[in-house]
Amino acid sequence: MSVSVIAIDGPAGAGKSTTAVAVAKRLGFAHLDSGSLYRAMTLAALDAELPIDGQRIAALAESLPVRLALTADGFRPEIAGVDVTNAVRAASVTARVSEVAALAPVRTAVGIMLRAAASAHPRGIVMDGRDIGTVVFPQARVKVYLTASSVERARRRLAQEGRSVHAVAVQRESDALDARDTADAGRAVAPLAQAPDAVALDTTEMTFEEQVDTIVLLARKAFS
Ligand code: CDP
Repeated sequence: MSVSVIAIDGPAGAGKSTTAVAVAKRLGFAHLDSGSLYRAMTLAALDAELPIDGQRIAALAESLPVRLALTADGFRPEIAGVDVTNAVRAASVTARVSEVAALAPVRTAVGIMLRAAASAHPRGIVMDGRDIGTVVFPQARVKVYLTASSVERARRRLAQEGRSVHAVAVQRESDALDARDTADAGRAVAPLAQAPDAVALDTTEMTFEEQVDTIVLLARKAFS
């Protein structure tokens, strides 16, 4: 029997992970943040001072290893057995992750880990990322493409990180998110894109509860 998958894709800072965590909790599914694995590959490469070379980064990740470890409510990224959930959110990683995520050997390695993690899980999975509905799980029964205006996404990201939400900071963050989205959408392999059968959800004017409710409802219909 194939595992039930809810794929949540969309641009940076759209709230995919927080939404995915809440949806998973409501449905008793496990959550898997695919971006955390690209971030862990990037952190490993930066720590080892490797050049941005797909083969070498994939080989390093296999030897350390970089992996997803099972937790009570989902998965967390580990490097050589150490939990790197917080370390992968460092600004130095964010600045380089799109470059690393564009490399085919890195995407192949991450894709294998994502599919293995999902298929080993007895419950359903809520997976968020950029290419989950298009490449990793094109057969997912529920696909959501989560967006919000870049200014709103910047505001939420600053607030989430406890930083000051003034106009200059919002503009700077919004520019950084836009740059990452342009890189993610413009790459040759598995670019950020809305799957033709995904439900687009623009959350600019929605409350968090509304967006979670909407996805839970889609899932209940699909899996009933
Ligand atoms: O949380 P945030 O929106 O900042 O990004 P993330 O989900 O942690 O993803 C970080 C980066 O990993 C993205 O900017 C993409 O370059 C890459 N990524 C990807 O290429 N494919 C995925 N399925 C998930 C993330």
